[in-house]
Amino acid sequence: MKKIIITIDGPAASGKEKIAKYISKKWKLSHLDSGILYRRLALIFFIDNVEINNVYKIKKKLKEVNKISFRNSKKIRTQNISKLASKIAIHSCVRSFVNNLQYNFVKKHRKFHGFVIDGRDIGSVVFKNADLKLYIEVNPEIRAKRRYKQLIDSGEKSIYPKILKDIKLRDRRDKIRKNSPLVIPKDANIINNNGTFKNTCMQIIKLLEKF
Ligand code: C5P
Repeated sequence: MKKIIITIDGPAASGKEKIAKYISKKWKLSHLDSGILYRRLALIFFIDNVEINNVYKIKKKLKEVNKISFRNSKKIRTQNISKLASKIAIHSCVRSFVNNLQYNFVKKHRKFHGFVIDGRDIGSVVFKNADLKLYIEVNPEIRAKRRYKQLIDSGEKSIYPKILKDIKLRDRRDKIRKNSPLVIPKDANIINNNGTFKNTCMQIIKLLEKF
């Protein structure tokens, strides 16, 4: 039986994870957050002091990594790891490594009848033939406000103007990089997530009704 693939792309802190979880629960699809994989690698590089501008050293380290956890955790959600993840994500060797993890995940989890996968390049590069592509749009100020609240709630010290600046920097890095930049996939449906979550869900339900 053909497996359904739904992709969700969008900038930092646009609510992709929450939306993907909602879709995964309601339509019983397996959820894969590709950002976690970049963050996990960033944490490994940070702990092992890998020079992130040295492609030779990055490739050497990637050969040594034999297992990556797909689990979310507080230690990969810090501002420091967010920044590092977006810096290592510019390298094509890092992107191929993460893409292979994603392809293997989909191959291995046969018992699910489909997947919802979120990131920056999922509909445009990784799963170009997906059944449904979503692109999430939210103003940077609203994203920063939501991220600020999240960090404060989780006990991390945080300053709103710094969060906004970091989000804008990450957006820029994601959009201007040569390898798999953040773009709106050609055939994507744009979801406006500036308002309430209920409003966002209504837009998604309408699209998924057709399936
Ligand atoms: O989505 P999240 O903020 O967790 O991703 C962390 C970083 O990983 C992003 O800033 C982005 O640079 C990178 N990333 C990417 N491609 C993806 C997912 C994440 O480049 N598919």
